Amino acid sequence: MAGDPALSRDYFDSLSAALVEAGIAQPTLIVDRARLDRNIDTLMRHLPDGMGYRIVAKSLPCLPLIRYIRECTGTDRLMTFNLQMLLQIAHDMPDAHQLLGKPMPVAAARRFYQEAGPEARVQWLVDTPERLAQYIALAKDLAVPLDLVLEVDVGLHRGGFAPDEALKQAVETMEASNHVRFAGLMGYEPHLTKLPEKGGLRERAAESAWEIYARAKALTGCADGPAGQQPLTLNTAGSPTYRLYRDTGLANEVSAGSVLVKPTDFDTDLLVDHLPTSFIATPALKVLDGVNVAGFEFVPGREPDVPDGHAKTVYTFGGNWMAKPVWPDGLVLNDMYGRSSNQQMLTGPADLDLEADDFVFFRPTQSEAVFLQFGDIAVYEDGRIVETWPVFPASA
Ligand SMILES: Cc1ncc(COP(=O)(O)O)c(C=O)c1O
Repeated sequence: MAGDPALSRDYFDSLSAALVEAGIAQPTLIVDRARLDRNIDTLMRHLPDGMGYRIVAKSLPCLPLIRYIRECTGTDRLMTFNLQMLLQIAHDMPDAHQLLGKPMPVAAARRFYQEAGPEARVQWLVDTPERLAQYIALAKDLAVPLDLVLEVDVGLHRGGFAPDEALKQAVETMEASNHVRFAGLMGYEPHLTKLPEKGGLRERAAESAWEIYARAKALTGCADGPAGQQPLTLNTAGSPTYRLYRDTGLANEVSAGSVLVKPTDFDTDLLVDHLPTSFIATPALKVLDGVNVAGFEFVPGREPDVPDGHAKTVYTFGGNWMAKPVWPDGLVLNDMYGRSSNQQMLTGPADLDLEADDFVFFRPTQSEAVFLQFGDIAVYEDGRIVETWPVFPASA
C-alpha cells in the first residue's frame, strides 16, 4: 500500500490467515497490537517533558483498549463525550479522571449523579455564563461540589468563551460560589493543521490561538499557577495538533486518541511517524469477471465509468462504512454506482489476486463511529487473533 511499505501482501496474508484460524468470516475490525505499541511509544516520545497526556475515549471507544493505553502510558486522564461512556468509565475505572470534551446539558450531569457517586472524578465543561449558572444550581441542589473547566474559543469558533470580561467574570462567579471549583481551561484547535498553508494562514492561526489561550490564562489567574491544592487542567490539542507543543509554557496537557489507531483522516505530514493500526477485514462474497453495472446492457456502446484497465467486479460482505479499501491493491469503490450496507460493489484490475471468500481490507477514515459497527474488536498479534475486546454501545 502506498505510503507504508509494511502494509504489503505478506502483511495482509498474515492478517487473513489469522482470521481464518480464528474462524472469522464476517466484517471485523482488527487492531494490530504491535503497531499500536509503536504508536503509543511514538506519542510518548514526542511529548515534551512534563506534558500530561489525556486519552480521547470517544476515538478509542473500547474499554479494554483504553485500559491497555492507560497501562502503557501511565495516564489516569481521559476525555469523554457522552453520558453512557462517562458512566461506564466511572464505574469500571473509578481511579480515572474524566474531562468532558463537550459541554453536556445540565440534565445529563444531574442524571450522572443519580447513577454515580459524588466521589466520581469528573471535570464538567462549561461554555457560557448561562451553563455556568445551571451547573452552580445543580451543585447546590445535589450538595456535590462540581469541578468545572471553561471552554475557550481559540479560533475553531465552535463556541466557548472569548478571552474577555465574561471569562474573568465566570471565574469570579465560581470563586464566589461555595458550590463549584474552577478546574481549568480547554482550548481545542484542530483547525491549525487543516487551514490552507497559503499566505502563512496556519502560522497566523497558531499564533493567534496561543495568544488567546495565554490571555485566557492571565484573565482567569491560571498564569499564576494553581490557586488551590489541585493543579489546574490546562488542556489543548488533539491528534492533528499534539505535535505542535514543544513545552508546557502554554498548556500542561494534550489530548489525543485517533492517532493511536490512525484512521486515514490522520494521514498528515505532522503524523507521518504514526502507523495505521486498525483495519476492517471483510469477505469478498463474489469476484466476477468484467465490470457489470445494472442497466449498461441496455445502452450499447456505453461502458461503466471505472478506472482504466478495471475488469473485475467484487461484492463484499457489507462495505458502506466510513472507510477506504486498501487491499488487494487496485480495488476501488465507485461511488457513482452506489454504496450498499449489504453487499458493496468494488472494481479491480484484470490481474486482481482475489477469490470468493478471501478477505478484502479497508482502513477506517475515522475511528469514533466506525469502531462501534463491528461488535468486538479482534486484536492481532504475532500472526494470530489473540483477544477480542468489546466496544462501547453506539451512542451520540
Ligand atoms: C475537545 C477535543 N479535544 C481533543 C479531541 C481530539 O480527538 P482525537 O485525538 O481523536 O482527534 C477532540 C476530538 O473531537 C475534541 O473534541
